[in-house]
Amino acid sequence: MKTIQVINRNVLGVISENDINSLQAAANSAMEKLHNGTGAGNDFLGWLHLPSETPEALLDDINATAKKFADCEYVVAIGIGGSYLGAKAVIEALSDSFAAYKPANGPRVVFAGQNIGEDYLHELKGLLAGKKFGIIVISKSGTTTEPAIAFRMLREMLETQEGKSFAAAHIVAITDAHKGALRKLATEEGYKTFVIEDNVGGRFSVLTPVGLLPIAVAGYDIKALVAGAKSMEIATAAAGNIAETYAMTRNALYRTGKKIEILVNFNPKLHYFAEWWKQLYGESEGKDGKGIFPAAVDNTTDLHSMGQWIQDGERTIFETVISVGDVKYTEVIPSDEANLDGLNYIAGRRVDEVNKMAELGTQLAHVDGNVPNILITIPELTEQYLGELIYFFEKACGISGYILDVNPFNQPGVEAYKKNMFALLNKPGYEAESAAIQAKLNK
Ligand code: PA5
Repeated sequence: MKTIQVINRNVLGVISENDINSLQAAANSAMEKLHNGTGAGNDFLGWLHLPSETPEALLDDINATAKKFADCEYVVAIGIGGSYLGAKAVIEALSDSFAAYKPANGPRVVFAGQNIGEDYLHELKGLLAGKKFGIIVISKSGTTTEPAIAFRMLREMLETQEGKSFAAAHIVAITDAHKGALRKLATEEGYKTFVIEDNVGGRFSVLTPVGLLPIAVAGYDIKALVAGAKSMEIATAAAGNIAETYAMTRNALYRTGKKIEILVNFNPKLHYFAEWWKQLYGESEGKDGKGIFPAAVDNTTDLHSMGQWIQDGERTIFETVISVGDVKYTEVIPSDEANLDGLNYIAGRRVDEVNKMAELGTQLAHVDGNVPNILITIPELTEQYLGELIYFFEKACGISGYILDVNPFNQPGVEAYKKNMFALLNKPGYEAESAAIQAKLNK
């Protein structure tokens, strides 16, 4: 049966099998902490058995809710961080590059609340003006500033454009079961809601309604996505699995001074998958003065911008390449009698064959340049395999965080900018911080 695989042969030379195997005891202990709930952050392990424990009825409810937007041209998914990146990653990976997020007879999914760009919001309002649209507002805490601003503006627009009752029927809120401003508003306005369970952190929430509802609205098969994740949950349940291998290898590399991991793809549809991965690993591991810095490149595009650095710059990096087996379509390079561009040597060959040779050539060059390569293969970009890949990275992240000896499930550092922003905006309750920050700025 086809599945995703992890191939490590291109790290050897920089680290040895022994270096990797020396982390086996730490990996075993990490697996135990995850499975027995005995590690730091053990109140956030709800993601671990999510694929196998998600009731069919919830998936049916999500699919039925997605259909409620059938009379809309657009659905705006509002959220940031873990309340945005998973849906964006999966939808991008599965969508037509030029008809993005548009199922045959359904609405197009667009995103908001993932930034505070005034022009972005203005242009989005321009797109939605005079069109029927719906809103999925996603915030676990229900208080995050970026999505709250976008929701306030777009809700007002929707109510003005279509009336309060259309708006109430076309707004779905995904939030905490009881707490937060969004829960209160949803209850008062009678919005359909889905719950984000307390024990699932934002960056581990793509397989909850947070990710699944926008993905279903975009027309993709959430049952296949969850089934893929479930097969990886089973495949990584016992010791000696591929999530352990990846976690041990990246930690062994980190210990030899490879401080930066670059997630590489040769398929432009994976750009946002890498953004999701960056959040997953960055927020989970970058703490207590430790952590591999997660970066990403889209090749071959970035070989013409970052290629020099990767080939030849400071040797503190390693690469993890996500290699996609089959593409969806066939395109063949035509032959040309004049051959002025000199391309006839590849005439008659598929574009993907050239891409695959670029991938292999890059891998060999980077290994020669002392950049170790971990290779992750995914047979093709389908819901099933993306589900597998998502769960694989989540499980490996939990193991890796515990090998690194951090709490992989908190993100205390994210609060620092919020505190300063609230102080600068004179938010009620931040009077002392406002005074302190003004004194600092006036120095
Ligand atoms: O992973 C996380 O916990 C964060 O990235 C959150 O998802 C992000 O800050 C958004 O939070 P919320 O869903 O509470 O609005």
